[in-house]
Amino acid sequence: MIVIIIQSAATSFRDRLPEDGKLNFTQLANKYGHECVEHDVVTEDGYILKLFNIVGNKSRPIFLQHGFMDSSDTFIIRGNTSLAIALAEEGYDVWAGNTRGNEYARGHLTLNPETDKKAFFNYSQHEMAVYDLPAMIDYVLHETRQTQLKAIGHSQGTMIFYILAAEKPEYNDKIKLFISLAPICYLHHTKPLTSTAIKLWPLVEPFFKELGIVEAFSRNSTAVALFEFICTTKDIGYPLCITIMFSFAGFDRKELERKFVPVISGHFPNTASTKNGDHLVQIALKKRFSKYDYGEEGNVLLYGTSEPPNYDLKNVRMPVALISARNDKLSALKDVAILRDALPNVVYDHVMERRKYNHIDYVWGKNAPQQLYPMVFKLLNTTSYHRISKLF
Ligand SMILES: *[C@@H]1O[C@H](CO)[C@@H](O)[C@H](O)[C@H]1NC(C)=O
Ligand SMILES: *[C@@H]1O[C@H](CO)[C@@H](O)[C@H](O)[C@H]1NC(C)=O
Ligand SMILES: *[C@@H]1O[C@H](CO)[C@@H](O)[C@H](O)[C@H]1NC(C)=O
Ligand SMILES: *[C@@H]1O[C@H](CO)[C@@H](O)[C@H](O)[C@H]1NC(C)=O
Ligand SMILES: *[C@@H]1O[C@H](CO)[C@@H](O)[C@H](O)[C@H]1NC(C)=O
Ligand SMILES: *[C@@H]1O[C@H](CO)[C@@H](O)[C@H](O)[C@H]1NC(C)=O
Repeated sequence: MIVIIIQSAATSFRDRLPEDGKLNFTQLANKYGHECVEHDVVTEDGYILKLFNIVGNKSRPIFLQHGFMDSSDTFIIRGNTSLAIALAEEGYDVWAGNTRGNEYARGHLTLNPETDKKAFFNYSQHEMAVYDLPAMIDYVLHETRQTQLKAIGHSQGTMIFYILAAEKPEYNDKIKLFISLAPICYLHHTKPLTSTAIKLWPLVEPFFKELGIVEAFSRNSTAVALFEFICTTKDIGYPLCITIMFSFAGFDRKELERKFVPVISGHFPNTASTKNGDHLVQIALKKRFSKYDYGEEGNVLLYGTSEPPNYDLKNVRMPVALISARNDKLSALKDVAILRDALPNVVYDHVMERRKYNHIDYVWGKNAPQQLYPMVFKLLNTTSYHRISKLF
């Protein structure tokens, strides 16, 4: 009953959103003064992904990759103080990618996400890494006639780059620098709420399987309508909405002011496959950076071993800059330290000065232009990336 009421009211919740909550990536880029071209990229396994290009100097391409339950919009919803616009203002050719399944990546050559759900949503971050990223990276290099690009990832957007470089080492040569904002790889030191969710997941997952639920948080879903409703409700909406987000990301009220929060709910959360959630939980519970666990029989068929093998981080030769934060409940400093020690080519390793800096401040924080961008620009402006730890 409640579900039906929320569903039928969903359109009117959308009307309550501020303008930037309703605009898509292209419209936001235009509103904030930049030309944007939309491209469709087709992956080797048939998924069609939208790639947004804020047109700049073609010899300086920057590729932006969003995280779990998110989309390219994350880099632009802050408008003229967003990372995408700030990079465009500096003359970079900005390319914002989307991974399979989200609202900009629901096309497929043969599958329909509404009627072929089981086959369409049969992916985790592994397929995003080995199919989506190569297709998008090669597309950008072709369009810009470059042999290398620089990339910035946020959250799971960092993990899929490590998987790509581990599984398809030839891509290391195509990436001049990879800036990891809120690096995600190992996940066994996440803070209370997430670690509890991780422990509970194996109990609920069989029910999802049984009910055939393979997709969560589609922009059409009741959960998203409810989140939009909460975040756009006067007075109580703000404390409720930030409490939900901060419980997972880390509390940092000053960076997420009242006026901006409804804008977020117009873009986030976005579709995730349950298999993606499952794979993240497996990595957390196994305490290792492992491939998807298909069960003993499936693993033997696919990997030749009863347990899934680890991704080989020794293959990740591309220069990596790690930027992490003390109050980030998802990308815990202890987990980032394990990652840093496993990566062969960390050129820069920085913990944000602000103690309250959390998982979402990198993309949505009010003061990112002061707190984060100067460092990002310095890194991008450097030409040689051989151990630049002493640079700042
Ligand atoms: C974004 O909005 C514009 C204007 O309505 C529309 O032409 C364009 O197709 C939209 N892009 C996407 C990817 O939905
Ligand atoms: C584009 O960037 C390259 C490399 O930084 C530079 O040499 C060139 O002058 C730039 N072109 C324009 C039109 O600004
Ligand atoms: C961003 O836009 C707002 C209004 O749209 C304006 O007040 C502000 O000065 C702009 N800031 C920058 C850095 O351009
Ligand atoms: C929302 O539902 C419509 C109609 O079923 C579908 O065409 C569209 O792709 C869906 N969008 C998302 C983001 O799920
Ligand atoms: C999902 O993918 C796995 C691994 O590629 C495959 O074994 C399985 O049959 C697929 N399931 C569906 C429903 O497509
Ligand atoms: C990057 O370098 C160029 C040329 O060396 C310089 O003009 C520009 O101001 C620098 N930008 C930043 C943000 O450091």
